[in-house]
Amino acid sequence: MYFNTHTHLNSEEQYERRDELIKRCLEEGVTQMTVVGYDLESSRLGVQIAHEYDFVYCTVGISPNDCEETTDEDLEEIKELAKDPKVVAIGEIGLDYHWDVPHDKQWDVFAKQIAMAKELDLPIVIHSRDASEDTYRFLSEAKHRGIMHCYGGSYEMALRYIDIGFYISLAGPVTFKNARKPKEVATKVPLTSLLIETDDPYLSPVPFRGKRNEPANVIYVARQIAELKGISVEEVANTTKHNAETIFDLNHGDK
Ligand code: NI
Repeated sequence: MYFNTHTHLNSEEQYERRDELIKRCLEEGVTQMTVVGYDLESSRLGVQIAHEYDFVYCTVGISPNDCEETTDEDLEEIKELAKDPKVVAIGEIGLDYHWDVPHDKQWDVFAKQIAMAKELDLPIVIHSRDASEDTYRFLSEAKHRGIMHCYGGSYEMALRYIDIGFYISLAGPVTFKNARKPKEVATKVPLTSLLIETDDPYLSPVPFRGKRNEPANVIYVARQIAELKGISVEEVANTTKHNAETIFDLNHGDK
């Protein structure tokens, strides 16, 4: 049984066909998943979808690529949404220097959402692109826990994130032929610190590279990790599922 920690069933591309996509997940043994928010609308939809299916959880948050116009009122609404019992984290939040959203605005929205997560005692799902050192600085100062989503950094950097309370989540790129860094991370980072995800509709794993991705494809990420580590795919599935349940705090209570 697989736990996909990062799907965008709340996206324009996936929302209308979520029933069909979830059905395919169940056929492949993907029995739990987290729908990750990136702006207000996708956060609202994530909460709605999580209430449609017992085994679907969600996160709410404003991503660095969607934060340019974010107001304090928007963040208040995120905070209200986050009180829903199906919300298991604040995210995806972080820093992205690949696109042109002003850095000072990104820092402000990121810092406010980290503070919100700490106040609500929820973990954070981190999106970091071309901003590794700054992201690390924010997170090491935050002294909080969470997930490095679609991790593409080095093995050495992964160890630093693990040291400060983070899980490393691998997505489709680990299956790409020339993805040296994700493959090294998958090989050397202990399974007890790894998670699996799709980040669909983007980044389809091999053998579907270039096509629209879907949450059931997380099994190809698990297979690749199993192959690189020389262990069974069941072990990858079970341990990463346990890790997901731990970081999302699903092992007890009413969630
Ligand atoms: Ni995402």
